[in-house]
Amino acid sequence: MADNKFDLIVIGGGPGGYVASIRAAQLGMKVACVEKRTTLGGTCLNVGCIPSKALLDSSELYHQAKEGMAVHGVTVGQVKLDLKTMMGRKEKVVGELTQGIASLFKKNKITHISGTARLVSGTSVEVTQEKGKAETFEATRVLIATGSEPFELPGIPFDGTKVISSTEALSLPKVPKHLIVIGGGVIGLELGSVWQRLGAKVTVIEMLPQPLGNLDTQINRLAQRTFSRQGIEFHLETRVTAVDAKGKEVKVTAENAKGEKLEFNGDHVLVAVGRKPFVEGLGAKEVGVAFNERGFITVNDHYQTSVPTVYAIGDVTPGPMLAHKASEEGVAAVDGMAGLPAHMNYDAIPFVVYTWPEIAWVGRGEEELKAAGIEYRTGTFPMQATARAKAMGEKDGMVKVISDARTDKLLGVIMFGPRASDVIGEAAVAVEFGGSAEDLARSVHAHPTFSEAIKEAALGVEKRAIHL
Ligand code: NAI
Repeated sequence: MADNKFDLIVIGGGPGGYVASIRAAQLGMKVACVEKRTTLGGTCLNVGCIPSKALLDSSELYHQAKEGMAVHGVTVGQVKLDLKTMMGRKEKVVGELTQGIASLFKKNKITHISGTARLVSGTSVEVTQEKGKAETFEATRVLIATGSEPFELPGIPFDGTKVISSTEALSLPKVPKHLIVIGGGVIGLELGSVWQRLGAKVTVIEMLPQPLGNLDTQINRLAQRTFSRQGIEFHLETRVTAVDAKGKEVKVTAENAKGEKLEFNGDHVLVAVGRKPFVEGLGAKEVGVAFNERGFITVNDHYQTSVPTVYAIGDVTPGPMLAHKASEEGVAAVDGMAGLPAHMNYDAIPFVVYTWPEIAWVGRGEEELKAAGIEYRTGTFPMQATARAKAMGEKDGMVKVISDARTDKLLGVIMFGPRASDVIGEAAVAVEFGGSAEDLARSVHAHPTFSEAIKEAALGVEKRAIHL
């Protein structure tokens, strides 16, 4: 095969694209992955999941050193923040992980093409390098994995310094006195937590009655109470009407449900109101790829677009915008191309919010089930009743297990508690296997662990939790 001809060209080197590339190479395909950033890993590794988690962990350590350790009998001297070192560590983590993907590409003999890709046809891709040089590559199939970019609010453009997106909020040069956040979603709460722990006053303005969208309301309220106690100020059912970034400070004007006018002055306003598919300059429409009314590329069960040789996965397609959703779709799409069984269970995707404590869930919450007319039973268990949480000194949190009222099949497991991001894995596997609350309740859980709260909540469905 000529050097510019491939079995598969993947456009985008994020968690969707790089994983799909590796899987395709494992299956013996000649693969190229086009990426316009200088490093692989996409938003997640470069300016998303990874740097935010690095800062969340660092800021939690700072917070613990300042306020959490004394009770454990650990006395530290004056605690000082060295933001430059904290940011440097974050960059190092990102650098090591993006380099790791470059090594995986080498190991799997994947051609990494640097530049911006544009579809010329369903089997041909033009790549323009930074210096403007363009080259055309041919492929039997093309996989679009170009991800998403932050939404801009109408009339409130990002300026990169005062009106910022998550990208800038990951690299602020100093701790703001007041960070105003528009949008109480995942980004708002995670990055709000980082800067609040580091000493900023953080105000979250959310237009809906609760943050975090359709997360089960009982758990949502519990989490919100904890975050408020930590110092985050919430203004719910509040709409931003104007942002004035002309002065030294940024001024945000909003209106709440009672029609009252509110004004906030801060150093930055972080606009975190969702993300939109990134397809600018991709040429997808021009070659006949169909989009839905919200600007997402539509695909069939095999991730094929309306152009049969062009596939799409991840944030650019409908569904939750999550790195792991994109990766799994990448594998399923490529397996399908190779004629292998390829299935993705959208009911078994875990969601995580990396606040402290963390929020994690799989399946649906009570309100969603009620709206769908599904009869269910619930079991709940407070985190502080587990021995592990007591030993750790963690008081907040709860697990809720929801199962079908008739069959006991698991419909949702929702968790607010320490290390929920890791513990939710067992619930996701149980849902994937079509498990029941009884299955969780009968499984042996190590003692003492946070995962025991899941077992106890599952026992609670039958009103037989032991430690309650
Ligand atoms: P989001 O969809 O999670 O939350 C946006 C929030 O902004 C919603 O609560 C919405 O009601 C609110 N909102 C929208 N317009 C508003 C307005 N004009 N005024 C006030 N509030 C308004 O979006 P977010 O936080 O920007 O994250 C973007 C994407 O990135 C999400 O799809 C998320 O899944 C993903 N992400 C996932 C993470 C994780 O899995 N831990 C971490 C960070 C991002």
